[in-house]
Amino acid sequence: MLAVLAVGVFLLGLASGASPNANLPHIVMMLVDDWGWANVGYHRNPPTCEVVTPNIDKLVKEGLELNQHYVYKFCSPSRSSLISGRLPIHVNDQNLLPTNYNPDDPVSGFSAIPRNMTGIAEKMRGAGYATHQVGKWDAGMATSDHTPKGRGFQTSFGYFHHANDYYKETASACNRTQIVDLWETDKPAHGINGTGPDNYEEGLFKERVLDVVSNHDPSTPLFLYYAPHIVHTPLQVPDRYLKLFSFINDHDRQYYHAMVNYLDDVVGEITDALKNKGMWDNLLFVTSSDNGGPVYPGGGANNYPLRGGKVTDWQGGVRVNAFVSGGYLPEKMRGQKTDGYIHLADWYGTFCAIAGVDPTDEKAAKAKLPPVDSYNMWPLISGETDTSPRTDVPVSNVTLISGDYKILIGNVNEAGWTGPQYPNQTNPNGGITAIEHCGDDGCLYNIKDDPEERNNIATKEPEMLKKMQDKLKNYQATYFNPDRGPVSPDACTMALDTYGGFWGPFVS
Ligand SMILES: *[C@@H]1O[C@H](CO)[C@@H](O)[C@H](O)[C@H]1NC(C)=O
Ligand SMILES: *[C@@H]1O[C@H](CO)[C@@H](O)[C@H](O)[C@H]1NC(C)=O
Ligand SMILES: *[C@@H]1O[C@H](CO)[C@@H](O)[C@H](O)[C@H]1NC(C)=O
Ligand SMILES: *[C@@H]1O[C@H](CO)[C@@H](O)[C@H](O)[C@H]1NC(C)=O
Ligand SMILES: *[C@@H]1O[C@H](CO)[C@@H](O)[C@H](O)[C@H]1NC(C)=O
Repeated sequence: MLAVLAVGVFLLGLASGASPNANLPHIVMMLVDDWGWANVGYHRNPPTCEVVTPNIDKLVKEGLELNQHYVYKFCSPSRSSLISGRLPIHVNDQNLLPTNYNPDDPVSGFSAIPRNMTGIAEKMRGAGYATHQVGKWDAGMATSDHTPKGRGFQTSFGYFHHANDYYKETASACNRTQIVDLWETDKPAHGINGTGPDNYEEGLFKERVLDVVSNHDPSTPLFLYYAPHIVHTPLQVPDRYLKLFSFINDHDRQYYHAMVNYLDDVVGEITDALKNKGMWDNLLFVTSSDNGGPVYPGGGANNYPLRGGKVTDWQGGVRVNAFVSGGYLPEKMRGQKTDGYIHLADWYGTFCAIAGVDPTDEKAAKAKLPPVDSYNMWPLISGETDTSPRTDVPVSNVTLISGDYKILIGNVNEAGWTGPQYPNQTNPNGGITAIEHCGDDGCLYNIKDDPEERNNIATKEPEMLKKMQDKLKNYQATYFNPDRGPVSPDACTMALDTYGGFWGPFVS
């Protein structure tokens, strides 16, 4: 079905007589970091003056809300999934540092995405797209094949780790020497100090996105992957934003909301630039968070009314803010909301279908790596159908959603709920630090009737429990989990001796 559709789109492109890529839409994929369900205006009813996201809310109002959009519970697996089109359990479910390395396995013995998987940007290049990456990567850096450039991005500007400092751009150290994590396509991004707005990293990324737009020839389709640092820790934001939220008396929540508001302003500037350039009418603007908001101490986020948060498989950790907007979205879909299941991995197949390229990954097949898992969601998003081709969401190797049901195995932590205001925790059994002991049999929830996962129906519905256990076992049998080795000292040697104090590829 996927293949047939992809071919159909491709033939249509040719039949129009123009060059094959003439009418392909521009695509901007924005992957926000650690963005909680309740940390966006359109999820706040009644509205609150703490969550100020008018630009994002407008995009949602003019776009299609993706109300059942799933990701992994933390950063690197989600990012690996988006770039590779695999479910996290088939590419990477570990949140390792980018410096891990196992020399015994030249295909998969690295952090994040195995070397021989084809990245989405390489597919888009094949369709004639200009490809650019800005911001957080966190999908591997051991060899140049693992960097954005190696995955098909013509230019990139960003960092490799889970996070760095918003002002110094440093991320961890080598024997007490701080190492800068900022890379420019194929070399350290020297000399950016003091040039960005507020000297703030998010400002540097904004400037780069605006440069990409301003330098782009609109007759070529654009594929831009923009992964802001915001709202990941460290909680840092320019003073003028902090002041706007001085009425919030919780330190973490004040910083968090100021950062969200900073990002919303950036979104406004970027969409204005795309409109002024005449690109908006033929553009798809896709937005998702990489995981739910961190509601543990120091996090500052909120997934109200969902349960749990980042680092857990509760809905608050894996069901995230997501929408599509832009002029390429058919008019009848604007202002709508879909409850069809979409996983972050599905954008690979969706973008390939839009571009008219085959999503099959031959290179990975040769290296005996798991194939692409991605479904083409364009028929759902464009309104051609109202059902998603995805009926199962294998959330992790111990959690599965299938139809209306969700099973979780083992001890599941952060088993509490926050109130509408972080850090209000309402679980009488210990709030967000509570643990639900689901055991080997698992907890079972009907997430359609009970989206807040309040009623474990495992004993009430033994037949469904058995069915879900069997389905989960089938997914567990396909679990891909190579030995990626320990942190490599070579990474520090390269950073200090070759790159002048910057992180970069350390295996040739
Ligand atoms: C740190 O220094 C010690 C002693 O000089 C050395 O043995 C070690 O390899 C160094 N570690 C790194 C990561 O460079
Ligand atoms: C910025 O300047 C500081 C202090 O001179 C330096 O440590 C840091 O490496 C510089 N950052 C970049 C990205 O050049
Ligand atoms: C991985 O891809 C490279 C080319 O990019 C190729 O030389 C190598 O043989 C591939 N490895 C496997 C195991 O297929
Ligand atoms: C699931 O993955 C974790 C690592 O994330 C691992 O420790 C555990 O053994 C795996 N369990 C199963 C059933 O595969
Ligand atoms: C905490 O959240 C609960 C549930 O929404 C609410 O009833 C309660 O008033 C909140 N408490 C505080 C102190 O905000």
